[in-house]
Amino acid sequence: MIKIITAIVLVFITSISSQLVMAHGGATGVVKERMDLMDNMKDAVKQLKAIFKGDVKYNPETVKQSALVIQDHSAAAMTKLFPHGSLKGHSEAKPIIWQEWDRFKQLADDQEKIAQGLYNSADNQDATPQGNMMESGAMMGQSMMGSGSMMSNNKQTQQNMTDPEHLGTMPSNMVFKLLTENCSSCHTRYRKEKENDM
Ligand code: HEC
Repeated sequence: MIKIITAIVLVFITSISSQLVMAHGGATGVVKERMDLMDNMKDAVKQLKAIFKGDVKYNPETVKQSALVIQDHSAAAMTKLFPHGSLKGHSEAKPIIWQEWDRFKQLADDQEKIAQGLYNSADNQDATPQGNMMESGAMMGQSMMGSGSMMSNNKQTQQNMTDPEHLGTMPSNMVFKLLTENCSSCHTRYRKEKENDM
């Protein structure tokens, strides 16, 4: 029995590590740099997930730290690692990034603001949405961060959803959701489909 378990664990570990190797697949230079940046954010998101799922005791300071990591990796810090046409090696980036640069850049900029909003909301652990926030909650229910709807109609709400001060009045778990939806919006459009590891 122990042998079987050991074997299973070994297979599991081997498959994880080969996935890791695959993911970076000999990437070098700027492609490697942006993969590292993305992986750092993934770690921060993992930490946050554990907190919001209740696996780890809620600690506003930890939420703030992870939010800062993500904020630091946003906007220009991210977009400078996507120089025109940089698709060498095993990059999963799609060429339309450079055809739709403004839109791509917007998602990277939004991330900075939402991460800042998460930082601002870190003390609102059990806050109940009220008034104006109910509205935004309902909007979120319809996944308003989904790239399509986000871009179109409601400009005002769209601005609210990336305004760090407004986000700072919302419950932190909602802001975290907006943040991860922003990761997904970008990946869905600009990253080749692969395992869904965010
Ligand atoms: C503005 C667009 C954009 C945003 C926002 C974004 N990503 Fe990415 N991400 C990409 C692209 C493009 C790639 C593929 C890069 C490549 O392979 O060259 C990627 C790749 C990744 C990878 C795989 C890295 C590897 O080792 O191959 C992870 C993990 C990841 N992103 C996590 C995140 C997380 C977590 C967030 C949100 C906190 C996020 N990303 C936000 C565009 C984005």
